Amino acid sequence: MDLAAATAQLTAAGVATPRVDAELLLAHVLGVPRSRLVLVEAIPADAAAEFAALVRRRAERVPLQHLVGTAPFRHLDIAVGPGVFVPRPETELLVDAVLAEVRVGSVVVDLCAGSGAIGLAVAQEAPGSVVVAVELAPEALTWLRHNAAGSSVRVVRGDVTDAGLLTGLSGGVDVVVSNPPYVPAATEVAPEVRADPPGAVFAGADGLALIPAVLARAAQLLRPGGLLALEHDDTHARPVAQLAAAAGFGEIADHTDLTGRPRYLTARHCRTHR
Ligand SMILES: C[S@@+](CC[C@H](N)C(=O)[O-])C[C@H]1O[C@@H](n2cnc3c(N)ncnc32)[C@H](O)[C@@H]1O
Repeated sequence: MDLAAATAQLTAAGVATPRVDAELLLAHVLGVPRSRLVLVEAIPADAAAEFAALVRRRAERVPLQHLVGTAPFRHLDIAVGPGVFVPRPETELLVDAVLAEVRVGSVVVDLCAGSGAIGLAVAQEAPGSVVVAVELAPEALTWLRHNAAGSSVRVVRGDVTDAGLLTGLSGGVDVVVSNPPYVPAATEVAPEVRADPPGAVFAGADGLALIPAVLARAAQLLRPGGLLALEHDDTHARPVAQLAAAAGFGEIADHTDLTGRPRYLTARHCRTHR
């Protein structure tokens, strides 16, 4: 199979970016960066067979990241597969919001950490920060521990709905960052999204089921003036801002993603620790 045939097969299957996916799968099989594919003159027979098999699975809408085993996130390749949410490019923006705040010695808590993408990126790009990544789902925790191995990120198994979470850090955290599940339950999603664990994507009928708990934990953990950066559904800018105000946050600002959709909120904890 060559790139043109693979692209045609992926196009017919409804893959959103067929040429890019075909190139990334071929680069993966050949063990070269995608940018080096132009230098490849012929595909060896065994590689062509492996490529054809991967293209077939991608045409079945298995996520590209599951097939190659990693998802790019900022300067990292995060290991992913069944059982963990695949980090998305729009979430990279949350890291910028955190980095603008973090200094050497700053304490950062990543709630609902999944693969660990956010916390690991912060730890890499802000050396000297202290990052704690909290995740509940056992399968996701396995990926998180794998990704965090050898990094400075501390992994904690915990539930954001638990008022006793990280009580040792109460009132002393500089930044809380979170990309929690937020999709309304009845939302039609692409086949690739159905490969993410449902508990990582959906959050009750309105998608807001977990937001009050995330806000409550952030309010508990943050020092006065500490920053919250919270990703949300593009229809949730207003209700999330209202919930944040009710939870004791001020300086509430909403931010758009690269497609111009409302995507995340930043806010400062202004009530003293309750
Ligand atoms: C949308 S995924 C985000 C993962 C990662 N932060 C990212 O941006 O790629 C949400 C994560 O929250 C976790 N989660 C869901 N409910 C939770 C809870 N009550 N406590 C802690 N984590 C939870 C899910 O298992 C999932 O890994």
